[in-house]
Amino acid sequence: MESPFDVLRIAPDADKAEIEQAYRRRAMETHPDQGGSATAFQAVKAAYDELIEEYEDGGRTEVEPEARQEDRPTGSRVEYLNYEVLDDHGWTLEDDDLFEKAAEANLAQSEYGRLWAEPDETLLEAAEKNGFTWPFACRGGACANCAVAVVEGDLTTPVNHVLPQEMIDRGIRLSCVGAPVTDDMKVVFNVKHLPSLDDLRLPPRPFEQAQLD
Ligand code: FES
Repeated sequence: MESPFDVLRIAPDADKAEIEQAYRRRAMETHPDQGGSATAFQAVKAAYDELIEEYEDGGRTEVEPEARQEDRPTGSRVEYLNYEVLDDHGWTLEDDDLFEKAAEANLAQSEYGRLWAEPDETLLEAAEKNGFTWPFACRGGACANCAVAVVEGDLTTPVNHVLPQEMIDRGIRLSCVGAPVTDDMKVVFNVKHLPSLDDLRLPPRPFEQAQLD
């Protein structure tokens, strides 16, 4: 069985920046849209998660972090959770330990996990590049189908969006036009069914639906 280092094609003494760079490269190489396979893609993601968690648990340490500062990859590490899961478990968006509980709940990777967003990439684009199907309709800031609740970090908020200020203040953002601007983020996606967003929703993929009609 291949080690996580073999899967990511890096040396066993690779530091965190090298692991993250290798993950981005291998994720692109193995993505089904790029001629790879779902199995290979998931293996790359699992290898990355395993190695990066070692850093978080203190099992690995950075090598000369100051000297390597210029090599630090840009982009954002996004921890995500599907809003639909909350009801099933009796959780709410206001729970302080929401993501800690999600991490321990053995959820499917489509419901909870981590993904990498490149600089200036919208969150929706990053999710799709990582193989996930998140809701959207217009892809232009004109509805609330792609809304996410930002629990930690932030997304850019273009001026030409439909969200009322009250929603912005509550951390609601549009993933189709919002790009992560913090190194780390926690977001709950699929919050389009929040009562306050109902009036802003469109039928899913209206343009594709129109072509079928
Ligand atoms: S899909 Fe309509 S605003 Fe994002």
